[in-house]
Amino acid sequence: MLTLGIETSCDETAVALVEDGRLMGEKLATQVDMHALFGGVVPEIASREHLRVLPRLYAELMDETGALPGDIDAVAVARGPGLLGSLLVGVSFAKGLCLATGASLVGVNHLWAHLLAPGLNGELRFPALGLLVSGGHTHTYLISSPTEFRLLGRTLDDAAGEAFDKVAKLMNFPYPGGRYIDDLGREAEPDTTLFPRPYIDNPTLDFSFSGLKTAVANHVAAHPDLVFESMADPAAVAALEGRRRADLTRVCASFNWSVADTLRIKVERALRQAGPVKSLIVAGGVAANSMIRETMAAVAGENGLVLTLPDLALCTDNGAMVAYAGWLLAEAGCRHGLDLEAIPRGRVVPLDWMTKRG
Ligand code: KG4
Ligand code: ZN
Repeated sequence: MLTLGIETSCDETAVALVEDGRLMGEKLATQVDMHALFGGVVPEIASREHLRVLPRLYAELMDETGALPGDIDAVAVARGPGLLGSLLVGVSFAKGLCLATGASLVGVNHLWAHLLAPGLNGELRFPALGLLVSGGHTHTYLISSPTEFRLLGRTLDDAAGEAFDKVAKLMNFPYPGGRYIDDLGREAEPDTTLFPRPYIDNPTLDFSFSGLKTAVANHVAAHPDLVFESMADPAAVAALEGRRRADLTRVCASFNWSVADTLRIKVERALRQAGPVKSLIVAGGVAANSMIRETMAAVAGENGLVLTLPDLALCTDNGAMVAYAGWLLAEAGCRHGLDLEAIPRGRVVPLDWMTKRG
């Protein structure tokens, strides 16, 4: 089955072709530099860019893979959660293509696609505990199969990636700054007493990262040397020396540790509550973080679980994960009608498939 995946939920425009679960080709255009100037994603700019770039990426993908529109069996599109205007670009394109070619339309939950993405490089083992850590979400799920996700815990305020980006912004790193904190943090030992591990002294599986961000903001306000005068570029970071570099790397390592250890505590708690699982899947942009990868490897090891992590390129938004998740759904007999709705952030993505196999 040839499945085209379309991703336009935030600031990456991406398409990919998956044939029976195997990636045939992909194209991605990121808008990250455009939004970096504003310190965050500007929704109107994002949707205009998707509109401008998506038809070209699709044409290039078809050209490079040699596939013809009539070969496509299913068009999988990220239908939410995300920025509504951006999602509508991908969803409308997908509907048009299905109308023109007769392919099946499959609306994909962007969050599920992140968690299923590691199946492209390895085997997914169910039931699994899923930890999704991205710029917009921090969720834990019990995943029984590619079509059965039960939400266990979620952030009450900032997502883990948002906390990374806001802390990075405090020190004047460009958006999205999570990667800078990871890189610099690797140079130092974390001071585990410097920042709190937020919202752990309670029995819930939910997260809250806004207090941690405030704690870092207070620390940075008291140590203005930590802040770059103008927006930090790789050259400015490389030039940083001596005491200033030591202080900055220690703050990055300590903040990173607070996030990683909070995630560890909540994942261990979720494992105790969810019942027996075979694997731990960690996905989303923040799953690229080296300390979080190490922490989760230790959790999996201690609990006798297979750790399933996407390759670094599959962590952030991409078309391959949407095509792959769409293929799994199509294989399970799920598809949508042309009335498929795009679902903005904050609304639960409904399980409104029609099942082909009845
Ligand atoms: O999954 P994603 O592409 O976007 C959403 O769907 O939200 O994730 C982007 C997030 C950003 O917050 C970015 O700072 C973060 O992932 N990120 C990282 C790292 N690489 C990307 N955070 C911490 N460490 C990293 N190495
Ligand atoms: Zn994402």
